[in-house]
Amino acid sequence: MDKISAGWLVLRPFTSMDVEWVYEVSQDAALQQYVQIPSPYLIEHARYFVEHIALELGVRGERAEFVVEDAQTGERLGRVGLGMRGDGTAEVGYWTVPAARGRGVAPAAVQAICRWAFSELGLELIEWRAEIGNEASRRVAEKAGFVLEGSLRKRLVHRGVRVDAWVGSLVRGELP
Ligand SMILES: CC(C)(COP(=O)(O)OP(=O)(O)OC[C@H]1O[C@@H](n2cnc3c(N)ncnc32)[C@H](O)[C@@H]1OP(=O)(O)O)[C@@H](O)C(=O)NCCC(=O)NCCS
Repeated sequence: MDKISAGWLVLRPFTSMDVEWVYEVSQDAALQQYVQIPSPYLIEHARYFVEHIALELGVRGERAEFVVEDAQTGERLGRVGLGMRGDGTAEVGYWTVPAARGRGVAPAAVQAICRWAFSELGLELIEWRAEIGNEASRRVAEKAGFVLEGSLRKRLVHRGVRVDAWVGSLVRGELP
């Protein structure tokens, strides 16, 4: 996968140099609450995410995971990724580092990966799911153009507990 340019941001593929950073960011309370990650989150979980999910599944075309960086400084601001379902659709996932929040990083990154996936991978629809009550994630999805479709019962597992989810989607051709 090549880099994707997104205004003042750039999306670049993961490398094994990102393991420590993923580990550190994953200690954040909001990630622990709203992302489907192990808790407690250990360094081997970060290694598995980077080396297996981002790199190996990336090579197999089953995932597309990117680090979101400040294009000028190279500072790592977050992560955005797609889990391919093999039927022309994928599910988007994202987080940003606490210090970068509230600056529109996630919506810009989500728009960029969706545009890339529609044009380069030929995807037809991208789905977003978030735990009901994750207002910040919902705002990101709305700003990136997703249409909220409703809620799904017990469709996510957070901290070992099944929780209800909002679901929304972006269809090819809807991005401005
Ligand atoms: C959800 C998340 C990715 C948003 O990223 P972001 O780059 O801050 O996105 P935005 O700048 O567009 O802000 C989105 C919303 O976050 C809230 N927000 C604003 N500043 C914030 C801050 N400093 N800290 C936390 N949330 C903030 C606001 O509700 C904002 O919506 P608004 O623009 O309508 O006011 C980020 O909060 C995060 O990583 N959360 C934990 C992981 C997570 O929930 N991931 C999504 C799982 S589905």
